[in-house]
Amino acid sequence: MKFYELSRQERLNQLQQQGVLSTASSAYLLKKPALDEQVLNAMVENNLGEFNLPLGVADNFVINGQKYVVPMVTEEPSVIAAASNGAKRVALGGGFATTVTERLLKAQIIVTQVTNFADFAARIKDVTAKIRQVANDAHPSIVQRGGGFDHLTVSQVGDNFAEVGLWLNPVAAFGANLANTIAEAVAAYLQANILIGQEAVLAAILSNVGSKMLVTTECTVPVTVLATKKIAGITVAQRLVALNQFAHLNADRGTTENKGILNGIFAVALATGNDLRALSSAITTYLMTEQQNVLSTWQLNLEQQTLTGRLTLPLTIGSVGGAINSLPSAQISLEILQQPTIEQLMGIMASTGLANNLAALRALVTSGIQAGHMRLQSANLAIQAGAVGSEIATLQQQLNRSNHSDLAMARAMLQQLRDKKVNKNNDN
Ligand code: MEV
Repeated sequence: MKFYELSRQERLNQLQQQGVLSTASSAYLLKKPALDEQVLNAMVENNLGEFNLPLGVADNFVINGQKYVVPMVTEEPSVIAAASNGAKRVALGGGFATTVTERLLKAQIIVTQVTNFADFAARIKDVTAKIRQVANDAHPSIVQRGGGFDHLTVSQVGDNFAEVGLWLNPVAAFGANLANTIAEAVAAYLQANILIGQEAVLAAILSNVGSKMLVTTECTVPVTVLATKKIAGITVAQRLVALNQFAHLNADRGTTENKGILNGIFAVALATGNDLRALSSAITTYLMTEQQNVLSTWQLNLEQQTLTGRLTLPLTIGSVGGAINSLPSAQISLEILQQPTIEQLMGIMASTGLANNLAALRALVTSGIQAGHMRLQSANLAIQAGAVGSEIATLQQQLNRSNHSDLAMARAMLQQLRDKKVNKNNDN
């Protein structure tokens, strides 16, 4: 049986057999205990309870030669199916290859009334060693873990602003708190010792820019793996490349293609307890500065009959710290991913985005997106129509068999189903 055809218990058993899930984690997922009151209170103000979303896994992933099942949290039925579908095709070409060349977080100290920028910059540069010491003393534990202050930049902004950029190595964390702590300590030192005249610190805060937290994932597949029953692989590949070219030329389409990529990225980010707002703002700035409509590029190699996809984007995430440590489900997701390094997690997240992208583009240029979407949406439609228990699966099957399905039709079918049942009971 295919993984998606198994029951939930059987899927959990299989993950245990694969050695990526402990018995305790499997029991936790089955029982779904509520979060501790203390955790809820620590995480939000005015807590009222929990908001639940489904956690599933996409299978078939091969990334840098290693097999993964990828935990994803999403409310959209087709997202996990699309990720598994894309990953299966990519695995046939050898899988994804990912690279992270640097991982630095920026903190900004914003200074006003800088009338002589050259002099300001020289004063800051002169005390670089002292700034390093102030920064590292403000957060000794990150230094013990091999991170801390890396280097600084000084920039003129407008006529009389200056920015002191502190570039920090947050090791496996995203590092928002450590960046803010360090920025405030260095700002206080500068204000007391280095600024002169009217110069004044306006604010000290991390930047959510991800220009030094980029990850690239790449895959090459033989075009034959893209074929459908009716359309040859080479034709699918040509159409897919053309659709991606269109997105590079057209922001309205680029926005939608990016949404498909983010389907994968955000689902893994949520599953691992990461901050979607940080990711969204980093990715938006990246697209603006690169003047790009779409994050991925697909190219055809006619001679080799292969299709290559490439995705580069900033992933401002962590594999430790904050909600990641407090949420048991985020810990289980990391367990399923075999406790990845932060660079591996970035690669997994990006590759899931590219897998979703491949599946979406292939569907769009062949059968269209609605065929697959509606098949998966029909369970939701059945629930919305009022189906309960075994009615859901029966109604889902009936909806899938009909050419057209909407809520009205789902309600009518449910009524028929119930009428039939009543008649049958009466006959007995
Ligand atoms: C739907 O969630 C995502 C797609 O719209 C992405 C795309 O159009 O590339 C299918």
